[in-house]
Amino acid sequence: MRTVAWHGGKVRLIDQRILPWKLAYVDLDSHEAVAEAISDMVVRGAPAIGATAAFGMALAARECDATSNSDLISWLEAAARRLKAARPTAVNLAWAVDNLMALAHNDQNRNANDLRIALLERAQQIADEDVRTNQRMGAHGATLLTDGATVLHHCNTGALATVDHGTALGVIRSAHEQGIHLHVLLDETRPRLQGSRLSAWELERLGVSYDIIADTAAGYFMQHDEIDLVLVGADRIAANGDVANKIGTYQVAVLARENDIPFYCVAPTSTIDPELASGADIPIEQRDRSEVLAPYGQELAPAHYRARNPAFDVTPHCYLSGIITEQGIARAPFTTSLRRALAGESLQG
Ligand code: MRU
Repeated sequence: MRTVAWHGGKVRLIDQRILPWKLAYVDLDSHEAVAEAISDMVVRGAPAIGATAAFGMALAARECDATSNSDLISWLEAAARRLKAARPTAVNLAWAVDNLMALAHNDQNRNANDLRIALLERAQQIADEDVRTNQRMGAHGATLLTDGATVLHHCNTGALATVDHGTALGVIRSAHEQGIHLHVLLDETRPRLQGSRLSAWELERLGVSYDIIADTAAGYFMQHDEIDLVLVGADRIAANGDVANKIGTYQVAVLARENDIPFYCVAPTSTIDPELASGADIPIEQRDRSEVLAPYGQELAPAHYRARNPAFDVTPHCYLSGIITEQGIARAPFTTSLRRALAGESLQG
């Protein structure tokens, strides 16, 4: 099962707005429709929106009937701006779009049709590479897990948040496939409920033991020695190791430190933004207040009440035990270890 795929000349996505009630797909035939699907969270999760945007660029190239390479590139530049604006925090989106634009610019001698083919091939490579990267992170991360451990997990970072397998939930999946017995406490993850809707759906299918907990219950379970380790994903990691991730991650990290529980982030190197010195400069998406007041149409408070809805927060690097990447586990000082991971070096333990 792939969350994102190229299918019959269109971008096919699992519609994550209606899970776990129904498994259905949407087929998109324009980059504008792809950008809207990313904004509406038909597809979500940093690596998944990166791969989706890459296919969106391949689609954009087919929407335009330019015969000259330079006309096609002008059209692609506008499509790239539209796709990158769909969600601001996850750097994987900009990373994937920039990767395809660099391909377009780097070989100006190609004719327009060859460029269309090359863009689709590159988008496919990004999607395939994402699955392999997740499996590598899964193998590194599984070394931290022992039989009988209980893991706290926030948001959804599984197959649905990537092309397949997942990052933090991918570590749990890899350990489970190795025969390590785990129990997972899933933060429900207000307001979009990625934990109770999506992570629970994935663990049900994998046969991994879990309980959904209210976000506010994490401290209770830590105090009662019921959590051995915390695993979360990331939407953007600054050069110093500060991590932007789903809203609520920061408070889990602070609670983990207070209770002496290891706290790991799991993310591919494409989530590292070496241009940003610290997390203070990461743009944080502010979403509509209706998601807080009436999630999925269920009114929790009158629609005219005031509400605020930041979608992400930043966890300072001092709270991290490590960052599990496809190159291995990065440890403090993160400025050095993340630079090495980005350079393709293998990191030890
Ligand atoms: O708003 P979302 O659901 O896109 O947020 C997702 C997260 O915060 C994930 O933890 C992150 O993207 C990593 S997913 C592998």
